Amino acid sequence: MSFRIQPAPVARLNRCQLFGPGSRPQIFEKMAASDADVINLDLEDSVAPDDKATARANVIAAIGDVDWGDKTLSVRINGLDTPYWYRDVVELIENGADRLDLIMIPKVGCAADLYAVDALVTAVERAAGRTKPLGFEVIIESAAGISHVEEIAAASPRLQAMSLGAADFAASMGMATTGIGGTQDNYYMHRDGQNYWADPWHWAQAAIVAACRTHGVLPVDGPFGDFSDDAGFRAQALRSATLGMVGKWAIHPKQVALANAVFTPTEDAVSEAREILAAMEEATKSGQGATVYKGRLVDIASIKQAEVIVRQAEMIGL
Ligand code: COA
Ligand code: MG
Repeated sequence: MSFRIQPAPVARLNRCQLFGPGSRPQIFEKMAASDADVINLDLEDSVAPDDKATARANVIAAIGDVDWGDKTLSVRINGLDTPYWYRDVVELIENGADRLDLIMIPKVGCAADLYAVDALVTAVERAAGRTKPLGFEVIIESAAGISHVEEIAAASPRLQAMSLGAADFAASMGMATTGIGGTQDNYYMHRDGQNYWADPWHWAQAAIVAACRTHGVLPVDGPFGDFSDDAGFRAQALRSATLGMVGKWAIHPKQVALANAVFTPTEDAVSEAREILAAMEEATKSGQGATVYKGRLVDIASIKQAEVIVRQAEMIGL
């Protein structure tokens, strides 16, 4: 390990973030009743320009009125290139209850974007006498965002989570697709008459995970647009989990169970992790740094790998 220790992210569940437009208050109670760990009420791109003010008022009312249980409650504000975002921040803090845990800042492009929001949030919090500091989450969904991903991850002590937003990301990068996440027809290797589909999101995801893990931020996979394609969602989520992401968005309620299934470690994975820890404890007692578990090498690094799974299981209460 470097002299600089990797900080732990906030200790809370983030297996699924369920989104809903702030202009559709009829679904807020349904969102609250879902099994998502995080709820994102949206003021940004699922709300038409003429509905921005009404959506903001709906969301502010719902923060206090709806019983959100023990869920993490987040509101996605408008981007810093719009005339709406400052009012989102000011009104959410001045009129919203302390129940609001996070705001999500979309389309961040550089650390200064977070600095600007942090300065405004800090001033309004003090003026309003808000006692619980508002946390941030951001979406990496532009060429600038992915180019500055590490400075963004380090930009504010308020930052808890970072998501990849596939649709805006693809548009900003000029990618030749209108798909929101998942396998893309034209992205394949060809050999001996066979096509092998590769993953065009892989490098951006890996860059986000590395930046997040360096600075103690939760890396999250964003939306999967085709909500009729359960197998495609699951495949995307499994790849994200394998790369180190902790959860995925749901843009339709049917995706919540799919995400929870992937980001909740299986009973087998948890018992195997516990067995590896036990095997390594035995090894350590007899003065060894490595041993054999089920015919394969386990060593001190395996302890850390197993602990990731056991910690997650403990948070879920498995
Ligand atoms: N959260 C909770 N419940 C939702 C929901 C959501 N995001 N979206 C729909 N529902 C409810 C519907 O009200 C309906 O409930 P009912 O059975 O009691 O009538 C049920 O789930 C089935 O809905 P369905 O008819 O399949 O979907 P829809 O046509 O009403 O809505 C979307 C589909 C995609 C428009 C809607 O899910 C949505 O707005 N998703 C979020 C979009 C968003 O926030 N985007 C920003 C982030 S990318
Ligand atoms: Mg977007």
